[in-house]
Amino acid sequence: MTSTNSSLRVVVLVSGTGSLLQAILEGQDSSYQVTKVVADVDCPGIDKAQAAGIDTEVVALGEDRSEWNKRLVDAVDSGQPDVVVSAGFMKILGEDFLARFEGRTINTHPALLPSFKGAHGVRDALAYGVKVTGSTVHFVDAGVDTGRIIAQQPVAVLDDDTEATLHERIKVVERELIVQVLRATKRSGTTVEI
Ligand code: GRF
Repeated sequence: MTSTNSSLRVVVLVSGTGSLLQAILEGQDSSYQVTKVVADVDCPGIDKAQAAGIDTEVVALGEDRSEWNKRLVDAVDSGQPDVVVSAGFMKILGEDFLARFEGRTINTHPALLPSFKGAHGVRDALAYGVKVTGSTVHFVDAGVDTGRIIAQQPVAVLDDDTEATLHERIKVVERELIVQVLRATKRSGTTVEI
């Protein structure tokens, strides 16, 4: 798919189911177009992208993490992104990646940051016993889930929630929020303004 001159070019990073990717694909309009989907493993997210006719690439992590980061940079670069979205991408992005894409890479996290950072945001919120958690879209920086917050939406925790039921309700909110954020994103030199 080609983007129009004015629409934002988006490369999406995925590792799993890709339901957020699907929402991003369905949300495409004149404001943004997905130019490429990159994954670290062959996953249903890649299948969803291919079904939508989007260019895909799997960059598997080998023994050398810094070499993997360089291959990841090249894979993302070839989609010529204005913005990179980490949508369920389960690897930390390294120095090379940030040197190239910091300021235009955003992540969606299934908790209200700065609470419950890391790979188990839903499980950790449930274990802590919070009554409200939610979804955060934020810029990616060198820390883990520490970059500037762009948007947040709360989700109530129910008494009988399991990690799976709570995560699914959070994902419903995440899907809407990431599309809203992308539609509001504007190019600003080599980075973006949101
Ligand atoms: C989302 O909750 C995202 O925040 C988290 O992984 C989940 C991805 O879901 N990091 P899916 O693969 O898009 O369904």
